[in-house]
Amino acid sequence: MNPTRTSVTVVVPTYREVENIPLLVERVRGVREQSGLDLNLLLMDDDSRDGSAEAVQALGLPWVQMVTRTANRSLSWAVLDGLKHTKRDVFVVMDADLSHPPEKIPEMVALVEGGADVAIGSRFVEGGSTADDWGFLRWLNSRVATLFAMPLARLSDPMSGFFAMRRSTFEAGRDFNPVGYKILLELIIKCRCVRAVDVPIHFDNRRFGKSKLSFKEQLKYLQHCRRLYIYKYGTWSHLVQFLVVGLSGLAVNLTALTLLLRVLGPQKLDVALAIALSMVWNFVLNRRFSFSYARGQAVVRQFIGFVAACSVGAVVNYFVTLGLWGAFEHKQVPALIGVLVGTGFNFAASRFVIFRSKHVRPETQAIG
Ligand code: GDD
Ligand code: MN
Repeated sequence: MNPTRTSVTVVVPTYREVENIPLLVERVRGVREQSGLDLNLLLMDDDSRDGSAEAVQALGLPWVQMVTRTANRSLSWAVLDGLKHTKRDVFVVMDADLSHPPEKIPEMVALVEGGADVAIGSRFVEGGSTADDWGFLRWLNSRVATLFAMPLARLSDPMSGFFAMRRSTFEAGRDFNPVGYKILLELIIKCRCVRAVDVPIHFDNRRFGKSKLSFKEQLKYLQHCRRLYIYKYGTWSHLVQFLVVGLSGLAVNLTALTLLLRVLGPQKLDVALAIALSMVWNFVLNRRFSFSYARGQAVVRQFIGFVAACSVGAVVNYFVTLGLWGAFEHKQVPALIGVLVGTGFNFAASRFVIFRSKHVRPETQAIG
C-alpha cells in the first residue's frame, strides 16, 4: 500500500437503515475499487435495534465499522462523534439511504486535498438535480430553510448532508454545539471554513425506510440557526433580535390601541394601556430571545430596569428631536432621528446594563 495515499473515512449517521446498509456498502465498495482510494466506512448508529449492527457484522468487511451510540440521539452529534473517532486525513459525511451518490466521493476528496476547506454535494448548481416527485411543500420548505442559512454562509445548498473536509480543518474547530440536522452549517461556522466548493449531485429518493426529518427537527433548525447567528455576529445578532422584537411591539401597541379605543374610554387611559402592554411584550420577548443569556437572573429587577431604560429612552428621543427641530424643514426627519437615537439608547442600556452578562457564550448542551 502506498503510504502517502490520502486516507478517507466516510462517516454515515444511521438510524433504522437496515435495508439500505448493504446497498450503501456495495456502492461504496465500487467507488473504493474504481478510485483506488484508501477508504473506510464508519456508520454511526443510534442504537437502531433493527438488525443493523448484526448486518454489518455479517458482512465481515475490515473497512466497514459500525459504532453504536446509546446517549444523545441526534444526527449532528452522531456525525461529530464519528469525526472525533476518525484519525484519517479526509472525511466525507453522507446519508445512508443513497440519496447521495457515493460515486462523487473521489471528486470531493480531490477538491479538499487541493485546498478547498469544504466540498459540498449540491442539488442547486448547474448539473445538480433532485428526484422529481418533490411536492411543492417540500420545495418551499427547503427554500425557506436555505434563506435562514444565508447570513451564515453563501452556499448553493446549505442544507446538504453530503460533504468532504480535511481532518485538520475539523480539528481547528471548537465550541461545537449543534441541535438537530444541519451539521454542515455547524462545521462551516465553527471550523471557520472560507473556501467552499460545490460538486453537483443528483439527490435521489430513498427506496427503503422513511425520512426522520420531522416537524420537530425543523423547529430545531431555527433554534440552531439562531445559535449560529449569535456565535458569528455577537452583539449585532442581539441588536437584530432587539429590533425585530421592537417592531413586533409596535404592532402590539397599534393593535391594542385600536381595540381599546373601541371598547374602553377614556382615550388617555387607552394610550397608556397600549404602551404598558407593548412594554411588557417587549420585555418578555427580549428576555426570552434577544438577551436569553441573562435568563437566569432576577426577573423583577430586570423588568424594573427595562421599564426605566425605556422611559429614559423616550426622554432621549424627545430631547434629540427638539434639539434638531430647527435644522430640518420636514419635521419627520428630527422625529425619526430621535426614534433611532432613543432606540440605540434602549438597546445599549438593555444589552450592557439590564441584561448584562460577563461572558456571552452560546448556550451549551450536555453531550451525554
Ligand atoms: N445516528 C443518527 N441519529 N442518524 C440519524 C438520525 C439520528 O437521530 N436521524 C437521521 N439519521 C440518519 C438517517 O439514517 C440517514 O442516514 C441520514 O441521517 C439522513 O436522514 P433522513 O431521514 O434520510 O434525512 P432526509 O432525507 O430528510 O434529509 C436529507 O436531506 C436533507 C436535504 O434535503 C439529509 O441528507 C439532510 O442532511 C439533508 O440536509
Ligand atoms: Mn434521506
